Amino acid sequence: MVCDRENKSDLKFQNFKINGNRSLKGQIKISGAKNSSLVLLAASLLSDETITLTNVPNLTDIDKMKNILKSLGVLLKSEGEDLVISPQNLHLCELPYELVNGLRASFFCIGPLLTKLGEATLALPGGCKIGERPIEEHIKGLKALGAEIIIEDSLVKARINNNEQRLKGTNIKLNCPSVGATETLIMASTLAKGRTIIENAAREPEVQDLCFMLNKMGANIYGAGQSKIIIEGVTKLKGCSHKVIPDRIEAGTFLIAAASTFSSITVSPVIPNHLDSVIEKLRESGSKITINGNSISIKTNSIKAVNIQTAPFPGFPTDLQAPFTALMSIANGQSKISETIFENRMSHIKSLNQMGASIVVEDNTALINGVEFLNGQSLKGQDLRSSAAITIAALAAKGISRIEGLEHLDRGYENFENKLSNIGAEISRENAKNINHESKLSLDKSNKQTKNYQAA
Ligand code: EPZ
Repeated sequence: MVCDRENKSDLKFQNFKINGNRSLKGQIKISGAKNSSLVLLAASLLSDETITLTNVPNLTDIDKMKNILKSLGVLLKSEGEDLVISPQNLHLCELPYELVNGLRASFFCIGPLLTKLGEATLALPGGCKIGERPIEEHIKGLKALGAEIIIEDSLVKARINNNEQRLKGTNIKLNCPSVGATETLIMASTLAKGRTIIENAAREPEVQDLCFMLNKMGANIYGAGQSKIIIEGVTKLKGCSHKVIPDRIEAGTFLIAAASTFSSITVSPVIPNHLDSVIEKLRESGSKITINGNSISIKTNSIKAVNIQTAPFPGFPTDLQAPFTALMSIANGQSKISETIFENRMSHIKSLNQMGASIVVEDNTALINGVEFLNGQSLKGQDLRSSAAITIAALAAKGISRIEGLEHLDRGYENFENKLSNIGAEISRENAKNINHESKLSLDKSNKQTKNYQAA
């Protein structure tokens, strides 16, 4: 049974059914960036007027962030492609625990609430499957700006305790170029009194997109995209209209899927220089890539093993490490993929090996012996990007795969299976509740036949 995501409640029972080993051909439309949209939604809290965001993707993480803004008294209205945000009635500075617990990115609200209302209380964002995800850089920076912060019973309580009820600009040097900490401190500094300098700032495109929108709102931010950012505080911020940048991670995921299936596709709109490091590695691994304005085309006839080390932007993005590992699992030769950003981002390896890959992990580095082909399997993704990686492997594999874990995938990819089936992939979303026992048996039988065939 093919179903859509509307019934989000039973995502845990939904799975992709994929018949792999088919080349793809055509054009994929890239959606707005998840990791830009989330922080832009939080930044809208800083405004005294209406913000209109366009190109916001339809994702479960975005739905959760919208609910958080609504719980604070913000009015949200969809008008066609536009999301109209009216924060004029913002009156609450405490985020409900259950909403924060469901979305780490809700912590982006602490900077705007603190600098706008003088206080903020929200749950301490826990770790997740890919790592501990600490926030000490956020807390240290906010304290340097003059906030009083108490963390007790898993709650972060921040307040401004000076007569002027304003944060005070200061110099902050981050110990690591944390994307979230950079974005939190930029937002907090926009309404602080005086100048703030953030050194060792994150340079990601999503940080740049945030600064671009804040400057349209009347902020004075210089050096976005560099490791030193200067913010001259102002007393208020006005409304604006802003289009979210294309999602570089979605675009990179589809380019890697095309390479893995020896396909010829075009992805657009993209901002090519957001993908320089990914394009370089795909070319090094044998894909032919053409850039034409805001489109990137890829054609792949063979896959050569290449080594990867993830790094902060402009290095190779950690969010594409798992998808690229799927590509390297069927490359000619041996490759090494080192994950340097998160401590536990190798959950896709077990599934890839179940499909016939030959990968061992040592000290957060995957040592990959490329194999000739993978075999379809029934698998379950453990987090957002590993679910994408397993889906890519299933598109490349011989035989049928069923991939569970769509509750992770739908957090970060809009209409994922439709975008793939539109260019020739045999992929559909099924509701496992409705899959009867026979069809499960037929899947096992067809995979066994495929394996026997390969054994011969
Ligand atoms: C953002 O997470 C993205 N999420 C992540 O995307 C992305 O993987 C990550 O940046 C790195 O690019 C959003 O933008 C919503 P960090 P963030 O703070 O801000 C350490 C996806 O798949 N660190 O740059 O949480 C931290 O432990 C998601 O779309 C500290 O040590 O990432 C990690 O090792 C996953 N102390 C490294 O920095 C701190 O105070 C990078 O984290 C903060 C971070």
